[in-house]
Parts: sequence; structure tokens; C-alpha cells
Amino acid sequence: LSHTDISKAAVIGAGVMGHSIAQVFAQNGIETSMVDLDQTKLERAMVLIKSNLETLAEYGEIHKSDIVEILKRIHPTTDLRFACKDTQFVLEAINEFIEAKQKIYALLDEYCSADTILASNTSGLDVFSFVKINNPKRLIITHWFAPPYIIPLVEVVPGEQTSKETVDTTINLLKSMGKRTLLLKQFVPHFIINRIHSAIETAMWEMIENDWITPEEMDLAVKDVFGIRLPIIGIVQKIDFTGLNLYFDGAKDTGNHNARIEKLIEEGHLGVQTGRGIYDYGDRTEAEIIRDRDLKFLKLRDYLNKIDAFKPV
Ligand SMILES: NC(=O)c1ccc[n+]([C@@H]2O[C@H](COP(=O)([O-])OP(=O)(O)OC[C@H]3O[C@@H](n4cnc5c(N)ncnc54)[C@H](O)[C@@H]3O)[C@@H](O)[C@H]2O)c1
Repeated sequence: LSHTDISKAAVIGAGVMGHSIAQVFAQNGIETSMVDLDQTKLERAMVLIKSNLETLAEYGEIHKSDIVEILKRIHPTTDLRFACKDTQFVLEAINEFIEAKQKIYALLDEYCSADTILASNTSGLDVFSFVKINNPKRLIITHWFAPPYIIPLVEVVPGEQTSKETVDTTINLLKSMGKRTLLLKQFVPHFIINRIHSAIETAMWEMIENDWITPEEMDLAVKDVFGIRLPIIGIVQKIDFTGLNLYFDGAKDTGNHNARIEKLIEEGHLGVQTGRGIYDYGDRTEAEIIRDRDLKFLKLRDYLNKIDAFKPV
């Protein structure tokens, strides 16, 4: 099965994620059944999808005249069996409960053809360990981020039995829909982004619960600093700008001995100041590298100000 063969998909669960993932499929020309247990959830989902598409049209991302056609490609239904008929790709986005997921996969196994790809949007559950289906080669995790019609990344996680064909078809499908994919080598609970997120949240709640800072101050502080730096230098390259020796000593003080950084320091690589740290800067001088960073920082800072990003939404 090649990604170009996928003309019909089903999204199971029309909640926060399901409805907007169904929207992305439909925006990309795929006939998409959207399934929920609850008719009122489906109605709410259609209202939200229409509103999302109008926002995208207002911004110029899609043509207003395309909205009707996109909406026509989404088929809301409570009938799972009907939704699975002739479907090549199923995206499961029901509630994050093991038992509920086990039940829905048993039904999907029964209703879908044996080579239909079954992709879970789980935020971190090891579906490979508890989902029992025929042909587990076609089971995969695609973890989207809200809102899926804007955020480019989808994490793709294969299980031990997932076939290379399933991985390739899934990645090609996502790429054809304009997504960037991050393929994990193996399943790790909560994948990459949510693991970072939960570390941030642990620190965040400690500070808020201890009354060291208000929630509003927290968000403003984070936007003022991370908001400008993170999109340009990420969290790894930032260490090159800090300087590896300073970073290493600081980490050691908090009990984290970093062998990778220590080795780079021993080899004389201190980051931007020596033209090589975790990243290799080629033959650019320190001043040139800093200039390249700063021009981007300045543009981003001013743009964030222009769109009022430092005020709460
Ligand atoms: N909310 C997020 O930001 C986010 C981000 C990434 C991944 N996820 C994951 O995506 C999945 C869905 O999350 P959500 O936030 O959209 O949940 P949600 O509660 O908003 O929506 C879940 C929907 O699934 C429906 N449902 C439950 N059982 C069903 C069944 N058997 N058949 C059909 N529909 C059924 C519910 O009625 C509900 O409308 C979860 O696995 C979650 O961990 C969520």
C-alpha cells in the first residue's frame, strides 16, 4: 500500500484532536469518516471544523471557496462498521484509557480490511503491548499536536512488529499533507515532546504551588525568554551559546555529570566561541555566528510584539 493509494480514511473520536485531524485529511483531498459514540460531539466537531477553516481562509492559508468542498469530504457518523468500509487508513483518537482503546481496536480489527493501517494518536500509551489485532504489522502511533492544522510536527512511533511498509506509507502520507515527521527508533512512553513538556510542568507547578510566582507571571516570563530564544536556537544549540565549559560546571554543581559535554571540552570544543560545540559551525567566526543568531532574535522579538504575543490570548 502506497500513500497515494489512500483515498479514504476514518478518524475515530471527534474530540479535541479527532475533529481537527479529520479536517487535515479532508483539506488534503481524502474522503474522511469521522466517528464518535455521541451525535452531539459530531455536531460540535462540524461547527469547530467550519470555524477553523474560516480562520485559515481569513489568514490566506486556504481559499474561502474551497471550504464547502473540504466540509463535504468529512462524513460524521456513529456507525463504526460503515466508516471502516473501504478505508485504507484509520486514525484513532478516542480517550486515553487502555480498556477503551483495547475495545475499539477489537472492533477495528473486525470491521476494517486486514491491511488497513491503524494509527493511534495516543499521547504516550504503549498500544503495542495491549492491542490485540490480526496483522500487527499495520499498527503504528502517529502523535499529532494541537492544533493539528497548524503545528507541523507529527511524532511517528513504530512497535516491534510494525512493518517498514507501514512506517514508510504513514510517513509519506503525513509528508504529502505538509507535515514534518519525527520517527522514533522505538517506543518510549510519552515520546519526545511530551517528555520535555512534563519536565517543564514539574518545575512550573513547584513554583506556582509554592506561591513563588503567579500563573500569569510564569507565562509572561517564559514568553519573554523562551519565546524569543527557543524558536531560533532550540534547547540543544543553546548550550553552544552558553559555552560548554560553563554549562558543564553548572550541571556538575547540580549533580549531573555530562560525559558527552566533557569529551567535547577535552577535545577543545567549547561551543560558538571555538566554532564547534554540539553543533559544528564550519569556518564562521564567533562574531558571525552571534550576528546570524541576533538578526533572527531581533526579527522574532519585534514580530511577537507586533502580534501582541506578550499579552495572554
Ligand atoms: N488533547 C490534546 O492536546 C492531545 C494531543 C495529542 C494527543 N492526544 C491524544 O489523542 C486522543 C484523543 O484525545 P482528545 O483530547 O481528542 O480527547 P477528547 O476527550 O476530546 O475526545 C475523545 C472523543 O472520543 C470519543 N470516543 C470515546 N470512545 C469512543 C469509541 N469507542 N468510539 C468512537 N468515539 C469514541 C468521545 O466521545 C470523545 O468525543 C487521546 O489518546 C489523547 O491522549 C491528545
